[in-house]
Amino acid sequence: MNEQIVILDFGSQYTQVIARRVRECNVYSTILHFNTPATAIAKLKPSGIILSGGPSSVYAADAPLPDKNLFELGVPVLGICFGVQLLAQFLGGKVEKGLKREYGKGTLTVKDSSCALFAKLPKSLQVWNSHGDKLTKLPRDFKPVAITENSEYAAIENRARKFFGLQFHPEVVHTPRGKEILANFVHGVCGCGKSWTMRNYLDQAVEEIRAQVGKEKVILGLSGGVDSSVAAALLHKAIGDQLTCIFVNNGLLRAREAEVVQEVFGRNFKLKLQYENSAALFLKKLKGVTDPEKKRKIIGRTFIDVFQAATQRAGKAKFLAQGTLYPDVIESVPIAGNPAALIKSHHNVGGLPKNMKFALVEPLKNLFKDEVRQLGLELGLPKEIVWRQPFPGPGLAVRVLGEVTPSRCEILRNADAIVVEEMKASGLYYKIWQSFAVLLPVRSVGVMGDERTYDYTIAIRAVESQDGMTADWVKLPYDLLEKLASRIINEVKGVNRCVFDITSKPPGTIEWE
Ligand code: XMP
Repeated sequence: MNEQIVILDFGSQYTQVIARRVRECNVYSTILHFNTPATAIAKLKPSGIILSGGPSSVYAADAPLPDKNLFELGVPVLGICFGVQLLAQFLGGKVEKGLKREYGKGTLTVKDSSCALFAKLPKSLQVWNSHGDKLTKLPRDFKPVAITENSEYAAIENRARKFFGLQFHPEVVHTPRGKEILANFVHGVCGCGKSWTMRNYLDQAVEEIRAQVGKEKVILGLSGGVDSSVAAALLHKAIGDQLTCIFVNNGLLRAREAEVVQEVFGRNFKLKLQYENSAALFLKKLKGVTDPEKKRKIIGRTFIDVFQAATQRAGKAKFLAQGTLYPDVIESVPIAGNPAALIKSHHNVGGLPKNMKFALVEPLKNLFKDEVRQLGLELGLPKEIVWRQPFPGPGLAVRVLGEVTPSRCEILRNADAIVVEEMKASGLYYKIWQSFAVLLPVRSVGVMGDERTYDYTIAIRAVESQDGMTADWVKLPYDLLEKLASRIINEVKGVNRCVFDITSKPPGTIEWE
């Protein structure tokens, strides 16, 4: 078993960020629901426990509270924000509503540099706060080690029991040295080494897959996206030809997408790739349909039919592999004010029906996206796939507004290829969340040479985002926008106008449908 840090989730929007920061220290971390029994936690033999923040007040009647035996496990504990208030309240301190909410940047002054959390750090640190409640009395045997303008107990410790508390958030980027504080906790206090690397995980995952699958056959739906691609490469390494990957061309792919998948997986990796060209079928089913939700449903259903038929052709397999990631399996804590709890997407209509009679192999289900990319690089996948921007399951259908016809798909595909090419040339493609073209259902008048035109409009969309839940439009340089517009209008037949989308999410969405 990996050395690990257990993070108890009290509904903070940053719980996953804490888990990622710990893993960036090369220490494995697991997120558990706040009320997980102490005995279950003990079974995992954690090297340390972190109590997350959360939107509640520890003194509220419905406050989420952990098993009190947690503090008797003899394991180091770090409470963050709500977590420190909880720690204090449980151990005999006092938490009250603060006179002033402490929110945003602050300066932390370390009063006792011998505290292990602040080893090798300066006495003055920029930190980020977000709390209304305040610790007003320390529990017995605790002492303050750092203060901020508004808080005399910004960091506290009980050195003998290895209990620590931070009122600010060390996990967020606005606390620039916060990762070092967390590293001090996991390495310095909890004594963890640095064994969690994707190099190590690769060997471990290969063993686990072999143990689970034995001599059976596995099928995987390969979309060419990061997750299914990494899952495919990993499984192939583990079980070679026992794996068959099914790639469905739904006619809604971007330029060269089908070719790249065939090149990388078929020719380079030499894995068993079953290529299903179902473009004509999807486009036939989409004929005359303009409603966005209807499009999604048709595509989802058609995909299932095509995939089911393809699995039969692939031969009898016991297992279906999926590129499920850790954030998909964490049980989110349903506490009012925790945006993570509200996020259930309308997107996954392409999921497979539960009645498909396969056992599941999910070799990425303990990994965050950045780890999956790292693993992809370890497996030798090209940057083009590992750092691919997200692409919606229904593909270009939700970017061809109005009816999806072969010719309108072709217009969008050509315009989109120019956006991708120029974004890559500018160096921005791999720095932002998504950049793409959208074909609008309006036509407008233009002049080209001596001719009057009446053609389509392309919208250019470029957004920055952490997870797709919220997004800001990217201020692309004017000369890049100019180049994009000029190339699209000159090179793509049927387009005579380009516009740039400057809507953020919310209130807009990233895609136009
Ligand atoms: P929206 O448009 O909802 O998109 O702001 C958020 C993120 O999700 C992607 N997206 C989809 N992904 N199936 C998917 O697999 C879909 O139907 C779908 N719709 C949107 C979108 O590209 C963005 O990254």
